[in-house]
Amino acid sequence: MDFVAVSKQRSNITRRLILAAGLTAICFLIFRTSPGFSSFMKFSQHEPGVTHVLVTGGAGFIGAHATLRLLKDSYRVTIVDNLSRGNMGAVKVLQELFPEPGRLQFIYADLGDAVAVNKIFKRNAFDAVMHFAAVAYVGESTQEPLRYYHNITSNTLLLVKAMATHGVKTLIYSSTCATYGEPEKMPITEQTPQAPINPYGKAKKMAEDIILDFSKTSDVAIMILRYFNVIGSDPEGKLGEAPRPELREQGRISGACFDAARGIIPGLKIRGVDYNTPDGTCIRDYIDVTDLIDAHVKALEHAKPSKVGIYNVGTGKGSSVKQFVEACKRATGVDIKIEYLTRRPGDYAEVYSDPSNIRRELNWIARYTLEESLSIAWRWQKAHRNGYN
Ligand SMILES: NC(=O)c1ccc[n+]([C@@H]2O[C@H](COP(=O)([O-])OP(=O)(O)OC[C@H]3O[C@@H](n4cnc5c(N)ncnc54)[C@H](O)[C@@H]3O)[C@@H](O)[C@H]2O)c1
Repeated sequence: MDFVAVSKQRSNITRRLILAAGLTAICFLIFRTSPGFSSFMKFSQHEPGVTHVLVTGGAGFIGAHATLRLLKDSYRVTIVDNLSRGNMGAVKVLQELFPEPGRLQFIYADLGDAVAVNKIFKRNAFDAVMHFAAVAYVGESTQEPLRYYHNITSNTLLLVKAMATHGVKTLIYSSTCATYGEPEKMPITEQTPQAPINPYGKAKKMAEDIILDFSKTSDVAIMILRYFNVIGSDPEGKLGEAPRPELREQGRISGACFDAARGIIPGLKIRGVDYNTPDGTCIRDYIDVTDLIDAHVKALEHAKPSKVGIYNVGTGKGSSVKQFVEACKRATGVDIKIEYLTRRPGDYAEVYSDPSNIRRELNWIARYTLEESLSIAWRWQKAHRNGYN
């Protein structure tokens, strides 16, 4: 090969290299300026003045309401959910309300998958975690205890480990009054001994214990909120409660009342009218979801490194099942048919909270009455006969 041919070949290679470098630079520029890249960068880097919250179970009833409030309050939110129970429809509503890059991202993942969870923590710069994701039916927990211990207890362990590994410093944990079991003395305070009587309550208590032991060895800020019976929905009607039809049997009283009012089921079955209560039916403390989420935001604002806060979140007032049904009849305007049956095994007579701790320390009180809460929820139920579909 002569000198001219070699130098021509070299200049061809040089030209190709320059072209390739130019194209790579253009692609990089396009990628950098694309909404996808800027959004990705926002989630993956801490930004002064912006708190990025990981909401586990954000496609579910309470998690979706929490996401809505956090976004309204200018937080940045990443939802992680495996959609085993929640609704992608709720996530879509939230995405449509907050489409700007860096506000909300949804990640489909199972919290039992350690590799996936670690990848999520590696790629995202979380400032805090609100851990709602869980299976959450007392009856189901007695039928499938291992599922509950796995989903609640071991997934919480995994999540806390990921927080420790990746230096996330604040955890707000969704616990439940079911961790108290059947206390002799009412109202229930945070000092009432925890003696859960079903796998759901036990799994949550174990998760609390893991978190509390972890807190002794770290400077993480912990808030454990023990909710009573959650009802209601977003007053602006954007979100509601839409459990899967197959979970109706496990269902909660508000869902059953609305189903009866809409004629989806023929009537309401009240189990147990011979309890030691004024009208013989069970007494529960019904807390509105908007009030409950307000407690979470206050908990987040008050969370301090190396400190643990444990709070009951309830109204402090018990309502009997009969009172609940009467309020539901007034809220829906439907004369719901009622059938009285014998007691359901495992139900306790009376449960209501003493919320004075949270009032004093976080300046939180429940604002919605039972009937207001049911009226708001009924508006959404009437307008969404098929849930989010
Ligand atoms: N609803 C109540 O009355 C009540 C009372 C006390 C405590 N809580 C607690 O509040 C939290 C939220 O309850 P909810 O009523 O919104 O329930 P929900 O079933 O509506 O929502 C739970 C969400 O978690 C998701 N999830 C479950 N397992 C998961 C996993 N392994 N990985 C990823 N996502 C998963 C589900 O898909 C669902 O979207 C739960 O921790 C529950 O124990 C609820």
